[in-house]
Amino acid sequence: MDDKKLDSVLHENRQFAPSEEFASTASVTPESYKELYQKSIQDPEAFWADVASELHWFKPWDTVLDESEKPFFKWFSGGTTNIAYNCIDRHLDGPSRNKAALIWEGEPGDSRVLTYFDLYREVNQFANALKKLGVQKGDRVAFYLPMIPELAIGILACARIGAVHSVIFAGFSADSIRDRVLDMEAKVVITSDGSWRRGKLLTLKNTVDTALEGVDCVSDVIIVKRGQGEPFPCHVQEGRDHWYHRLIDGLPIHCEASEQEAEDMLFLLYTSGTTGKPKGIIHSTGGYQTYAYLTAKHVFDLKPEDVYWCTADIGWITGHSYLVYGPLLNGATCLMYEGAPNYPDNGRFWEIVEKYAVSIFYTAPTAIRAFMKWGDQWPEKYDLSSLRLLGTVGEPINPEAWIWYNEKIGAEKCPIVDTWWQTETGGIMLTPLPGVTPTKPGSCCHPFFGVDPAILQEDGTETDGGLLSIRKPWPGIMRGIYGDPERFKATYWSKWDGEYYFPGDGAKKDEDGYFWVLGRVDDVVNVSGHRIGTAELESVFVEHEATAESAVIGVPHEIKGQGLVAFVTLKEGVTATPELEKELAGFVAQKIGKFAVPERIIFSADLPKTRSGKIMRRLLRDIAEGRALGNVTTLADPSVVSDLQKHYEED
Ligand code: WTA
Repeated sequence: MDDKKLDSVLHENRQFAPSEEFASTASVTPESYKELYQKSIQDPEAFWADVASELHWFKPWDTVLDESEKPFFKWFSGGTTNIAYNCIDRHLDGPSRNKAALIWEGEPGDSRVLTYFDLYREVNQFANALKKLGVQKGDRVAFYLPMIPELAIGILACARIGAVHSVIFAGFSADSIRDRVLDMEAKVVITSDGSWRRGKLLTLKNTVDTALEGVDCVSDVIIVKRGQGEPFPCHVQEGRDHWYHRLIDGLPIHCEASEQEAEDMLFLLYTSGTTGKPKGIIHSTGGYQTYAYLTAKHVFDLKPEDVYWCTADIGWITGHSYLVYGPLLNGATCLMYEGAPNYPDNGRFWEIVEKYAVSIFYTAPTAIRAFMKWGDQWPEKYDLSSLRLLGTVGEPINPEAWIWYNEKIGAEKCPIVDTWWQTETGGIMLTPLPGVTPTKPGSCCHPFFGVDPAILQEDGTETDGGLLSIRKPWPGIMRGIYGDPERFKATYWSKWDGEYYFPGDGAKKDEDGYFWVLGRVDDVVNVSGHRIGTAELESVFVEHEATAESAVIGVPHEIKGQGLVAFVTLKEGVTATPELEKELAGFVAQKIGKFAVPERIIFSADLPKTRSGKIMRRLLRDIAEGRALGNVTTLADPSVVSDLQKHYEED
């Protein structure tokens, strides 16, 4: 975050208390909050055991928390359960049986509503289809699907039979799919013939075909037909590829839920880190379900009559925990939308809110800033009076966007929950509770139950502005990095001798004890809420034959929060041309995905380096943000900087 923004955030003193009306029916009250929070910190095992008991266990656990192999914590050891059973079967005996579980709207305007019993049937058939292909407990199944019901159904089907799901966001390129499929050694890949995005048909199956060239571990590919009519043309490889609708034809609608050990792996989700290689974050069953359940229940104050809409894609953690698992564990009605927020026009989200009388709406600051830019006339056209609670996630929200959200979408009557968390934490960690916490625009307020945060300096002393850290394990915490336990320890647990979890974010605590998360302190850039490792991008650039060296930095961006700027030096004899710039952009799109293409690619004769040869990214950031340049005496060649600065400003 740049200095100006930081300054405006830290001088933000406005407070917004929940209305009495909201507070009077909220699931947590100020009194119960204090008591419960205290219990959750003083006796976490008793606290989490009570929560876990609200879900179904085939066999109760022996130990709530086993810290013997710290930081590889184990929760609910000895217990067996099934998260898909808890999401669906648990709601079938009561009035929820015929309640809408999933309301889906396709981009072209088609829609589907699945009740809890519909979901039961669909998930079980999908599970039986996977079994028919020989998928067994522990096998990895990769998904490369658009936001269609079969994505939610498919991951629940995996959970039902104990297979490990790994969703690859549909914006990733074939190369990225291949890397992930190989890393997880996926047995089956599930994709679709197509998907709609801004009125254009995307042909996902073709991308999967390219990704799987020469890949041996995948025995079968399932193709879900996106539309109701004829499938969109795509190649079907005899023996390997199966149309989903044919595969499930005639399969039973019952499938016994596998008794999963609490620590059995539930899913893998790849995320960018500070090195070139994305890491497969491991989440397990019993702890994750307990944490997703309780956070969804209290942060969103879910009521039986709510229509809850989380706009995140299931390709990211938010879609896992708060579109599928958390709300379904609570028996809620979830809305899922396939397409873009500005198709066919900028009012599409608000049209959907009106159409389905959405009452809880959870989105990202980048979307809010885009809506602000598009103008008030869009939300004003629609009846948004059904909304009662708003949320944001994914990046810091600037107070201006928060205030706009509060006034124009929430009509100043909806609490806003600004939720800080990560792929690695499994669920929400810092957040207001909507009936309890007076909110401050831009602050994610306080820790959730059982979360014990601290702000530390590098040397481990507590401070009110520094590095965010978490002291105690919580049930939703990641269980490791797939195939790389050492990297898990080094990345998250090495900073303070294994005593604190280090999420990689900087934070500040104000005089009222409110937390303000300021952004990443490592080389990860948050572009529209998508985490992109600069090292990953740099290694893509140098893979290109024209490039000698590259340094990528994040810069403030009005809509995206952060944008990417790449500084690239070319090999001897290669000339910098606009065509080459385009080619490099295309190369990034091919290697990672379009969303990772930098805003600007700047060719430069050299990069600023220390005498020991380290690229000084701080200086590049100073140049990009137009700041006065600090000390450059450690530079091997100080003239590089003035050249670069000139270049940057002229470009
Ligand atoms: C950032 C998304 C400020 C943070 C759930 C974190 C936030 C990274 C917030 C995780 C927030 C997420 N305020 N920053 N409310 N929420 N972040 O893994 O830098 O995609 O480390 O998980 O997003 O991104 P991830």
